[in-house]
Amino acid sequence: MLDDDPAAGTTTATTSAATTAAPAHRVRAVLEADLPGARINRHVYGHFAEHLGRCIYGGFWVGEDSDVPNEGGLRLDVVQALRDLDIPNLRWPGGCFADTYHWRDGVGPRDQRPTMVNSHWGDVVEDNSFGTHEFMALCELLGADPYVSANVGSGTVREAAEWIEYLTRADESPMAQLRRSHGREEPWRVPFWGLGNEPWGCGGGMSSGAYADLARQYGTYSLDHGDNHLYRIAAGAADADYRWTEVLMQNLGRYLGVGEVSGHGTNTYQAISFHHYTVVGPTWENKGSATEFDEDEYYRTMVKAAEIERIIAGHANVMDAYDPDRRVGLVLDEWGTWFDVEPGTNPGFLFQQNTLRDALVAGVHFDAFHRHADRLVMANIAQTVNVLQAMLLTDGDALVLTPSYHVFAMNKGHQDAASLPLTVRGQTPTREVDGTELATFSASASTKDGQVLISLTNLDAQRAAEVEVDVRGCAPGTPVGRLLSAGALTDHNTADATPVQVRDLDDVRLDGTTLRLTLPAHSFATVSFPAAG
Ligand code: AHR
Repeated sequence: MLDDDPAAGTTTATTSAATTAAPAHRVRAVLEADLPGARINRHVYGHFAEHLGRCIYGGFWVGEDSDVPNEGGLRLDVVQALRDLDIPNLRWPGGCFADTYHWRDGVGPRDQRPTMVNSHWGDVVEDNSFGTHEFMALCELLGADPYVSANVGSGTVREAAEWIEYLTRADESPMAQLRRSHGREEPWRVPFWGLGNEPWGCGGGMSSGAYADLARQYGTYSLDHGDNHLYRIAAGAADADYRWTEVLMQNLGRYLGVGEVSGHGTNTYQAISFHHYTVVGPTWENKGSATEFDEDEYYRTMVKAAEIERIIAGHANVMDAYDPDRRVGLVLDEWGTWFDVEPGTNPGFLFQQNTLRDALVAGVHFDAFHRHADRLVMANIAQTVNVLQAMLLTDGDALVLTPSYHVFAMNKGHQDAASLPLTVRGQTPTREVDGTELATFSASASTKDGQVLISLTNLDAQRAAEVEVDVRGCAPGTPVGRLLSAGALTDHNTADATPVQVRDLDDVRLDGTTLRLTLPAHSFATVSFPAAG
């Protein structure tokens, strides 16, 4: 239903909320603090770094001789900013790049590494100076779990199997010896292993059946060495291609009682991924500017972002039919906004700015992730630095924290917390956007270590939301609120100005067990409080 929004006409997204007098929406919700649900896997706050544009080179890696403070060539400001997010994992080396990458080109003395053409991203020459050792050193500095994607599209099973041996084997095996000859004595721990990327597209243009066979084959030879146990992730669907997921579920392996036994009697893969980007259009060639958009375009972006809930549920439903005990994980290993590149930048480098709109897209995604914690085990923002919906932008030696970064920071208390039911009572504020009902209020909650954390997003561009949360099942203590907003949806941070900042949300109060707060127009907020028995 279209609400009685007096400000519903087309206005520019740069209109300041402070200058509008549209009445606030009222939202009443119930939080059931004594009904903890599934654990929100910390890995849904995961990241993605591809050899693409300035993500690796200039983003993570500046080289040992750089004036930018670094450790072994890795940018320390970037490392610290991501450590502050409690970054749980990092996916590498792609993306499309992964299916062109031959890992042996990226080990050994840097000045002797062969070069290659990065055919997907700008057709530039890649010098392989950032390879396996550099990536693993980065993960160690970050305290993040590595998620390595094998080359299925143009590599070989042997190449992939030997990479695992190189990374994780301790004894005198040929690959362990090779690793030692390159200066690393001990094996690394590699928990996450990807079997290719987008095999229906840049990863080989395959049918689901053809890929399922390859995934079983690669999975079979993706061995556990010593006490390193791989969680093998089969490359999955684009968006709502549920048929792809179904074919992968049918081919999974033994413990679901389908297909044949893999090499050592376990499943050939333990999880299935999918990708979903927030792309508005009108066409792929014209996806719109990241920073210049009007209110109509803003709402269309939010309609696309909100689709994530339905798409996760769609894949989860297919998986439930084969795996009612939810032993197989669903992984969204690429998500985020995708706009036109910044004017004057290489179209193959996918560099876009990041506004308050991007932050609200992130808020909506995380609420959906939390609600599907029983199936979704991992998600990876695309991408971490300087590419697409980046957390961080580098500009020479300057580092910019984007609005999206702040959502990850404000939400980090949800990592490994138990999800809590938070239900809007009565009418959720909505707005009609090109015939679609967009809920303009979104929220989710969790509990961990005696604290409750609620995330709230007000997507309405003009109207505040007066929110009342009836907290049941615990005695809430003093609430603390944090707010991310700005004068305009198009506001974004640069090396010179940072208008999108986190500040205290002053207007949070507790009346008995009712939490009351005002969410300004176009804002994201968190409220936390101690919860006694
Ligand atoms: O993130 C950019 C690209 O988007 C990835 O390389 C690919 O997997 C997807 O199409």
